Amino acid sequence: MSSQNHIPRHVAIIMDGNGRWASERGLPRSAGHKAGIDALRRAVTCAQDMDVECLTIYSFSTENWSRPKAEVAFLLALLKRFIRQDVADLHSKGVRIRVIGAREDLEPSLVRMLNDAEQLTEANTQLTLVVAFNYGSQQEILRATQKLAHDVAAGRLAPNDITMAHIEANLETAPMPPVDLLIRTGGEERISNFLLWQCAYAEFIFLRQYWPDFDAVLFEKAVATYQSRERRFGGLKAKSA
Ligand code: FPP
Repeated sequence: MSSQNHIPRHVAIIMDGNGRWASERGLPRSAGHKAGIDALRRAVTCAQDMDVECLTIYSFSTENWSRPKAEVAFLLALLKRFIRQDVADLHSKGVRIRVIGAREDLEPSLVRMLNDAEQLTEANTQLTLVVAFNYGSQQEILRATQKLAHDVAAGRLAPNDITMAHIEANLETAPMPPVDLLIRTGGEERISNFLLWQCAYAEFIFLRQYWPDFDAVLFEKAVATYQSRERRFGGLKAKSA
C-alpha cells in the first residue's frame, strides 16, 4: 500500500490541446481557448474542493509569442476577460491570485489589472491560483541568478554562501511549496520550460484528453494516481509530505 494518501499541496497544470479540440470540431482555435477557460474554472473549483493549497496554470509561455499575431491577441484578450469576469467570484471564494512571468512585456493596462487582482486577493487563505503568463522557467532561473550576482557584486553575499534556499527565494513562486503533481493534458509528454526547478521531485501525469475536456473526474483520478505512487525523494523509503 502507498504510504501517502494525502492531497498534493501544489498542483501544476500544462493546459494543452485547445487547438486540436477546436479543429476536431471544425471550430477556430480561439474556440478551443475559450472552452479552455471553462475547464480552468472546473479545475479551480475541484482544487478547492480537494483542499489543494496551490494550483499553478501555464496560460502563456514566453515561446507563445511566436504564434500568429491574431492568436496571441486573442490569448491576451482572454486573460483580460478572465480577470474581469472571474476575479470577484474567486475573491468571494477566498482564492488568492498570483501572476508569474515577465510582466514588463505586457501592455500597461493589463499589468494594472494583474496587479489589482493580486492586491485585492492578497489576504485570501484558501487556494492560491498562480497564473503563469508570459512565463518561462529558464528565464525565471536566469533572473534569480542575476539578482544573486548583484548581491555578490555589491558585497552582500559571498559566492560560496549561495544556497539552494537563496535560489528558491528569488524564484517567482517563492514562498510556495514545490510542485507535488504536474498534470499535462493533450497527449504530449514534456515539460516545455514550465517550473523546472520547482518540479524537481514532482510526480508527472500525462493525459491524452485535450484541456477543454478536463473535468473533476479526470482531476480526481490524477490525484488518486499520484496518491498510489511512492515518492522517495532520492531516498530508499517512502516519505510522507
Ligand atoms: C495550449 O493549447 C494552450 C495554450 C497555449 C493556452 C492555454 C490557455 C487557456 C487554457 C485559456 C487561457 C487561460 C487564461 C487564464 C488566459 P494549444 O493551443 O497549444 O493546443 P494544440 O496543442 O492542440 O494546438
